[in-house]
Amino acid sequence: MSLLIVKMNKQMRCLISAGPTREWLDPVRFISNPSSGKMGYSMASEGISRGMHVDLVSGPTSLEAPPGVFLVNVETALEMENEVNECFSGADIIIMTAAVCDHRPETNHQNKIKKDQFPSTMTFIPNPDILLGLGHKKVDSQVLVGFAAETENHLENAKNKLVEKKLDWIIMNDISKENTGFQSDFNRITMLSAQNESIEFGFEKKEFLAKKIFDVICR
Ligand code: CTP
Repeated sequence: MSLLIVKMNKQMRCLISAGPTREWLDPVRFISNPSSGKMGYSMASEGISRGMHVDLVSGPTSLEAPPGVFLVNVETALEMENEVNECFSGADIIIMTAAVCDHRPETNHQNKIKKDQFPSTMTFIPNPDILLGLGHKKVDSQVLVGFAAETENHLENAKNKLVEKKLDWIIMNDISKENTGFQSDFNRITMLSAQNESIEFGFEKKEFLAKKIFDVICR
């Protein structure tokens, strides 16, 4: 009885990743993507309004962290992996909205590459798949949620990620349509669960979708 009360009163802990990562080539150049971080920051804000402890591991964005959030700033995928892993075991809900660069330049030059020495080809090496790593170590009491940014074969690709990364939910994000996904205040998503549920939301503001996503995963 006392154990149950302790669990019921325990503050839920939510870990969210957001924004892009930057993979440096030299001190003045990097590869990245157009992620604004808006979806992840909306999720963080919604978590706070539900009374949760929220750790937000964020790549570079122009957004202010919602009040009450524990913000950890990172730049590269390797830094994001370290910080996410640091917070993972204490988290009840983990939501990876970050647009992690899958590759990084093989060499991060210490000095600026002068223009007449700039290479005409470049070698990239794979970054770790952070979410895949979490899926393999998650315990049953944790809810693990990923986002799938897709331009084609949307549901099929998202389902494959759900299974491969051992997720509870994947949120398919159609980034091929105008005014949705990267940079936009709006999104068009379909939530797919490991139990074969499929829940579709129309064109909606990211703040509204953040509420709906929490309603579903906290059911
Ligand atoms: N993700 C991650 N680490 C990576 C790549 C992706 O943790 N190196 C996470 C993202 O945060 C997202 C999910 O995995 O929650 C799916 O990311 P997405 O970019 O849609 O797909 P990828 O797994 O990178 O596969 P692909 O690029 O082939 O679509």
